[in-house]
Amino acid sequence: MTVDANRIDALQEENRKFPPSPEFAAQANAKPDIYNRGFEEFWEAQGRERVSWFRPFDKLYEWEPPYSKWYLGGQLNVCYNCVDRHVEAGRGDKVAFYWEGEPADERRTITFSDLQREVVRFANGLKKLGVKKGTPVGIYMGMCPELPVAMLACTRLGAPHTVVFGGFSAQAVAGRLNDMEAEILITQDEGWRKGNKVPLKANCDDAMELSPTIRSCVVVRRTGDPVNMTDGRDIYADELQAGLSDDPATCPCEPMDSEDLLYLLYTSGTTAKPKGIVHTTAGYLVGVATTHHYIFDVKPDSVYWCAADIGWVTGHSYILYGPLCNGTTGVIYEGVPNHPNEERWWEIIERYKVDILYTAPTTIRTHMKWGPQYAQKHDLSSLRLLGTVGEPINPEAWMWYRQTAGLGKTPVVDTWWQTETGMILITPLPGVTTLKPGSATKPFPTIDAAVYDEQGQEVPPGQGGNLVIRKPWPAMLRGIYKDPERYQQTYWARYKDTYFVGDGARKDEDGDFWLMGRIDDVMNISAHRISTIEVESALVDHPAVAEAAVTGRQDPQTGQAIVAYVTLKATHQASVELLSELRNHVSNKIGKIAAPANIVFTPELPKTRSGKIMRRLLRDVAEHRALGDTTTLADPGVVEELRSRAVAEEGKEQ
Ligand code: PRX
Repeated sequence: MTVDANRIDALQEENRKFPPSPEFAAQANAKPDIYNRGFEEFWEAQGRERVSWFRPFDKLYEWEPPYSKWYLGGQLNVCYNCVDRHVEAGRGDKVAFYWEGEPADERRTITFSDLQREVVRFANGLKKLGVKKGTPVGIYMGMCPELPVAMLACTRLGAPHTVVFGGFSAQAVAGRLNDMEAEILITQDEGWRKGNKVPLKANCDDAMELSPTIRSCVVVRRTGDPVNMTDGRDIYADELQAGLSDDPATCPCEPMDSEDLLYLLYTSGTTAKPKGIVHTTAGYLVGVATTHHYIFDVKPDSVYWCAADIGWVTGHSYILYGPLCNGTTGVIYEGVPNHPNEERWWEIIERYKVDILYTAPTTIRTHMKWGPQYAQKHDLSSLRLLGTVGEPINPEAWMWYRQTAGLGKTPVVDTWWQTETGMILITPLPGVTTLKPGSATKPFPTIDAAVYDEQGQEVPPGQGGNLVIRKPWPAMLRGIYKDPERYQQTYWARYKDTYFVGDGARKDEDGDFWLMGRIDDVMNISAHRISTIEVESALVDHPAVAEAAVTGRQDPQTGQAIVAYVTLKATHQASVELLSELRNHVSNKIGKIAAPANIVFTPELPKTRSGKIMRRLLRDVAEHRALGDTTTLADPGVVEELRSRAVAEEGKEQ
């Protein structure tokens, strides 16, 4: 048999379908005719409807590949759109955020008026430090309410921010601050995580030794423990703000041009120097507000919980800017899902009557590992929509989510996008789209997605290839900060004037997209190119398995052989019988070619701090290489543990 070396074989067959219920469809924000709307008409209308302008735009967009500009000639302010205009419209008493600290019984309810006062006072403090339009600001915080306050204060002043996830090391912080040439750093004394205190200010001290451009560090008190404060550089936020006004008239929202820099967000950089992804003001705000409205079917009385960290793009777009622009009530939870126990999430949903929940497949699989009994103790009947993002979702995890959290009735929207895309691009629209577990289904209206072979031809339905986007969209990245060459090379060199995503995908006969993971992770077994997600989903399909990660290791016969790392549900035990059962299960489900040569049982998988499985490290372990960069790992101990298990397993199998 001849095999096109560039094609990705599609093995998974998943036939379950869930059409929208008539009740949901009748009340949905999206109606089927949304797909008939013209590109320009749609985005012109969204631009006018979703955002308030200080000066209206006079041209929708310009496209000079690889750069686009949107809403040209317009002026607006993000903080005004997310906060002030809701207060001015008489909705000041509406809750903006229910905040829940990790330590039990620490809760705050923050209305839009409260948020406005806090943001104004914070912004007045920053002004005292000389922050103004264009001053680059770094933010390194946990999920306390002052994090959104700090971000909004920056946008109020027109100061671009870069938020560095609170789990990153001092070195990672310094690298990002230096690239942005940040002048101000906002942090907190300590954060809470898994019941422990995280030394955020101490990390900043180390980072600032390497970041000469920082002149002031603002420290929010969270735990209240004493931290080192350097005279003349460091100041507590409450001291900075003492006596300052919280009247919005004292700190008007800076009018920004549509294409002014809003923020940089550095991609996690598991392989190379992090890329500073550039997002600008108007197109980004319109893009996230529009997608948030239609995809999450948000209503005026919704209580919406996106359980990501604000330090990732998901938090920027769908905790902060999209939802607040739409005036939505959100939930922010500071800690981990199992503190003090595995019921924490479900308690939060019950307490606030959350109706929309948005999380990552990795979290769903973690809940699967613990078992459904924790969710079942709580009243989850308020939930009417579930969403996922971050990785391909295994069909069984999708089913579990719908069954356990959604009580078998809610739509699940599997949303595909990237830091670079700024907004969701491939997704079901609830009430319109027939759902398929494991498929992100259709491009959002106006998004022109396709699957290409290496020559730039569209592949036939059912065949895997490279996902590309052929037309611009409002929230797309405007480049890599200070590195146009890398921008061109990474995204635009493969196909002419077409955005190269870096993910594999296939489109089925109905035009639904199935994401197949990063192209770099595709395995080559006896000249068949097999995506990791299909083997992983076949493993997760077995009732004993909660989570699986596979990778290819070199093999003299087959080129590569599949090594699988498997985490079992709490109810199951590892055994030699289970090993062969799992191999057979994969063979039966998707074919003998995809059966793992080795299976390693492990209680945890190595993941980035945003929850993505780090397959590159698994390859290093499988091929007995020295480990590459492990600094972005959530728990570096996991790899060492895996290494010893891998050696033990191979011993057994030979
Ligand atoms: O590989 C895809 C995967 O996550 C990548 C983007 O990661 P990041 O920039 O960190 O943004 C994550 C949150 C938007 C993509 O290239 N990915 C994200 N969502 C999905 C996904 N893979 C499959 N299905 C998804 N729904």
